[in-house]
Amino acid sequence: MKVLNYGSLNVDYVYSLDHIVQGGETILSSKMEVFCGGKGLNQSIALARAGVPVYHAGLVGEEGSILLDACRESGVDTSYVRQLDCKGGHTIIQVDAKGQNCIILYGGTNQMQTKEYIDEVLSNFGKDDFLILQNEVNLLDYIIDRGHDRGMKIVLNPSPFDEKLMACDLSKVYLFLLNEIEGEQFTGFSDVDQILTALAGKFPEARFVLTLGSEGALYYDGKEKIFQDIFPVKAVDTTAAGDTFTGFFIAALLEGTSIKEALRFAARASAIAVSRPGAAPSIPCIEEVKRALSLPK
Ligand code: RIB
Repeated sequence: MKVLNYGSLNVDYVYSLDHIVQGGETILSSKMEVFCGGKGLNQSIALARAGVPVYHAGLVGEEGSILLDACRESGVDTSYVRQLDCKGGHTIIQVDAKGQNCIILYGGTNQMQTKEYIDEVLSNFGKDDFLILQNEVNLLDYIIDRGHDRGMKIVLNPSPFDEKLMACDLSKVYLFLLNEIEGEQFTGFSDVDQILTALAGKFPEARFVLTLGSEGALYYDGKEKIFQDIFPVKAVDTTAAGDTFTGFFIAALLEGTSIKEALRFAARASAIAVSRPGAAPSIPCIEEVKRALSLPK
């Protein structure tokens, strides 16, 4: 069984501010840092740091070498990633004094996937291999269809939520990991129980992890509901907290741990990521998470 994460790679330009800038307002940022990010890259790095051999696929641009280096340094196999001679994906991220963020996303090469490239990558994978996806690349509908044709188990983090997702046959998704805002956008409900019931009604073959920010996370598979509280930390930067949760949750499932334990493991890893600045650099490694949970090495 192999794990392929097909997704975005971004250079994140992160500006520290007292508060998120309002319409018409100009404020001076106290700090500007550049980090490796992108939901795809972050999740691949989280999987790799959690001990999973993971392949990444996607397209980087002219400035992509630092993204590839970051993946490789963490143990992600980048042999399927291609570099194009044009602008890659990047973000402008504002982080306020409470560690909350807001993000402007420029797609660049992340929005230049072709059917030929997708077919070529997926031809290396087959039945019961895992295909991890987010919504920061174009042709997501095609990737889902072809991955499903090959018998792959599709895990989707439908973020950022937009109308393109509605063009996808989401009945092919095995596991959804989403936050409560995305849950509301999918179902029209803001109440957590109603979101989960509606999701299970729409996608009866799937299972769901709904992350609730400071309120924890819930797993639901249409029958069993399991709650996981957060591990309280001083929030420095919430960027990549969800990606860290995703990577460590999937890693624990692949190890064969129970859902309850997988949620706990993911929540602990995510809390560590929140306590540090940046996207990819904030993601802990497995030893650190085990230590924090007092688990044997
Ligand atoms: O999930 C966090 C990521 O979202 C950031 O690293 C940024 O690149 C955006 O894609």
